[in-house]
Amino acid sequence: MSGPQKQSTSFVLFGALGDLSLRKIFPAWFYLERGGLLDDSLRILGVAREDITTEQFQEKIIDALNLFVSSEFIDVDVYKRLVARIDYCHFDLTDPPSYQKIKGALEGWDSATSYYLAIPPKLFETVCDNLYETGLVNEQSRIVVEKPIGYNLESSNEINDKILKHFSESQIYRIDHYLGKETVQNLIALRFANSLFSSQWNSKSIEYIEITAAESVGIEDRWGYFDGVGQMRDMVQSHLLQLLCLITMEPPNQLDEQSIRYEKTQVLRALKLLSEGDISKTLIRAQYGDGEIGGTPKSGYLNEEGANAQSETETFVCFRAEIANWRWSGTPIYLRTGKRMTDKVTKIVIHFKSDDHFIFDQDQKGSTTNSLIMKLHPTEGIYLQVHTKRHGVSEGMRLRSDPMSLDFAKTHKLLNIPSGYQRLLLDVLKGNQSLFLCREEIELAWRWCDDAIEAWNKSSQQLHTYPSGSYGPEITKTFIEQYGHHWHED
Ligand code: BG6
Repeated sequence: MSGPQKQSTSFVLFGALGDLSLRKIFPAWFYLERGGLLDDSLRILGVAREDITTEQFQEKIIDALNLFVSSEFIDVDVYKRLVARIDYCHFDLTDPPSYQKIKGALEGWDSATSYYLAIPPKLFETVCDNLYETGLVNEQSRIVVEKPIGYNLESSNEINDKILKHFSESQIYRIDHYLGKETVQNLIALRFANSLFSSQWNSKSIEYIEITAAESVGIEDRWGYFDGVGQMRDMVQSHLLQLLCLITMEPPNQLDEQSIRYEKTQVLRALKLLSEGDISKTLIRAQYGDGEIGGTPKSGYLNEEGANAQSETETFVCFRAEIANWRWSGTPIYLRTGKRMTDKVTKIVIHFKSDDHFIFDQDQKGSTTNSLIMKLHPTEGIYLQVHTKRHGVSEGMRLRSDPMSLDFAKTHKLLNIPSGYQRLLLDVLKGNQSLFLCREEIELAWRWCDDAIEAWNKSSQQLHTYPSGSYGPEITKTFIEQYGHHWHED
């Protein structure tokens, strides 16, 4: 089969009443509708088990929008335009004859249909087989799948093989919603549109890099899913390694999907495996305990509802990565991610090297390196920490540090920074795969994670704990300090 080329204006959402659909996908459609970015002919078919009418489904969508769209954007006219595009079809996905219902519902719709599987991966094969058997797959169809694609390399390959029975690689859109985020896109612009940075982007100028994705949410009602997964598979395998790739990849020849994906796979190939012997110096795993956030008591992971009190699943991971290539050899990259931490903070910090010869007061030497901070959350922006003279005659040549800032919410007067899903949904419809993961990237990322997990399991490393509402286990601080580095603090 050849890849889809034409615009798709027919969108089928499986799992249309699930958490992902209600929290992320329908709000994304709302913002796109509000921005006038949807083709007039776009039709959306929600598929779920609940036996309700299209009108009842539309009401549920409006209820979800009232909850998940920022109140200042709620607009009844936009609701009306959006729900007018939406139909609903209910059935049990494991029942082959029921797929005729979708066929009936799609009668007269664009045949270039995008199927979005917001359902557990164990159902992917059943849905793909039945769509195919029902004659609902053609060369222009595309299929969208969410992470987690598998639990390890083996299961990820199984899932990919099952989808590939009926869809070619160019028809598969594997989502990592981080790639749709505005500031993540900006990493590419920042790196490759500014010669100031592109000439410095290597181990000769950069001392170390840190990537942080701290979340304040815990596991709560996702315990059943998360306990078999852990933070390494949930956040590192996809989101964090993708950020690492975008920060460190070579300049792609062009901004097209082949070039970007190729460069990302090169980084993953060069990512050094964590060896069992060094694991205590390169990887920390931890689990949140009881604590509080903003004065509200929060239960520890093992005290969440439905928890297995013996669980050793990590909710926090911190590790030191190295990329064995010409550009990055010698520059460590520290990554950390955890649930139930003080705040939700997602940021990348590039620490530049300092000059050996320092002509100002020597006591200020250590604090005058430049750093570039790219924030994805809570505010989206880019800040360059620079040093200037303190103001005033009495200050002599004492230095001060300030950020030169690009706060996107202010500079672009953007009241609403688009969620990753808005861009990704549009790209699916357009047939643009550059922000989606190819099979090889997923395989390489799993290979690295599987290896790290195995090295950990073989070692006698202890699982640390940290109080809910903290910055992670204490040891994270000394972990980075053993290399003479420190975490950036806001
Ligand atoms: C998801 C993970 O992929 O990303 C969740 O499964 C995590 O556990 C979420 O909370 C974080 O996404 P964001 O956009 O809120 O940083």
